[in-house]
Amino acid sequence: MARRAHQFPWKSAGRVSEQMLSGDDVVRATGWVFNNATGDSLTLAEFVATGDEEVPAYLETFGARSEANQDRALVEIGSGIGRMTCAFTREFGSVIACDLDAGFLERCYETVGRFGKVDRLRTLEVIDGRNLDLPTDSVDVAFSYITLQHCSRDDALHLAGEAIRVVRPGGTVMLNFRGPAGSDAFLVPAGRLVRSMYRMPTLGGWLSRQRSFTRLAWQVSRVHPDDVITTLGEQLRDVQVWTNPVAHVAVSGRQAEVEQRSFEGINRHHWWLIATVT
Ligand SMILES: C[S@@+](CC[C@H](N)C(=O)[O-])C[C@H]1O[C@@H](n2cnc3c(N)ncnc32)[C@H](O)[C@@H]1O
Repeated sequence: MARRAHQFPWKSAGRVSEQMLSGDDVVRATGWVFNNATGDSLTLAEFVATGDEEVPAYLETFGARSEANQDRALVEIGSGIGRMTCAFTREFGSVIACDLDAGFLERCYETVGRFGKVDRLRTLEVIDGRNLDLPTDSVDVAFSYITLQHCSRDDALHLAGEAIRVVRPGGTVMLNFRGPAGSDAFLVPAGRLVRSMYRMPTLGGWLSRQRSFTRLAWQVSRVHPDDVITTLGEQLRDVQVWTNPVAHVAVSGRQAEVEQRSFEGINRHHWWLIATVT
């Protein structure tokens, strides 16, 4: 499968994670690609603790936390090495962790083995970065955090469509995107330039350990709520767009049917689509 430029930084970070002896080493070497924390004494336990805090907070905020989740199936798109997956395996009866990188998924399995309920976990490689190899209407919830912004706009919309396809009617999608901002005029072209250097294996391996370069390389796509709602809104009801209170996003398409909500825990550049699948 030919890789596209925006996938190289993740594949490089995945290779670095495969070379590490333990999950603690992975967190110290490249853990910042997931939660931005750096330091020589970080541990996998501390890393997972950040997911243990965030998962219940997001589920509560979005009205998706319930005892009934113990009998429900969740698909997580962009699980990485399992920072949030551990908590999902405690909240949901079954979890399918999906990621572009198979090395991350192996680490995810190990992480959940130590800190979650591994008997509830299945992993799935998103080989082409676009399609989920799962049956239609096969899960109750689809969740994705800080992942769609790392895909091309077309892949992000396609993956959002896949999330809707695999969720049964009446189920829920919780999808996190990064919206457009003034700084994009610099960040997006700079990201494109830096990403092209990750294609060279030795340079790519080195770059993937450099936080400043990698942060630029991540700058792939910005998606406005209107883009998603115009493309996929027909398959959804009870559509909510959540942002940080100081980052109002004007939603114009189907505005009357879209409820805008805010929560302080959301990054100012991010927004969430919360909706029920029809
Ligand atoms: C910033 S990390 C977030 C991981 C996790 N959601 C968390 O919060 O810890 C983004 C993850 O998305 C994965 N990813 C990037 N593009 C993807 C794609 N097209 N399909 C599936 N996973 C992808 C990367 O490999 C990486 O593990």
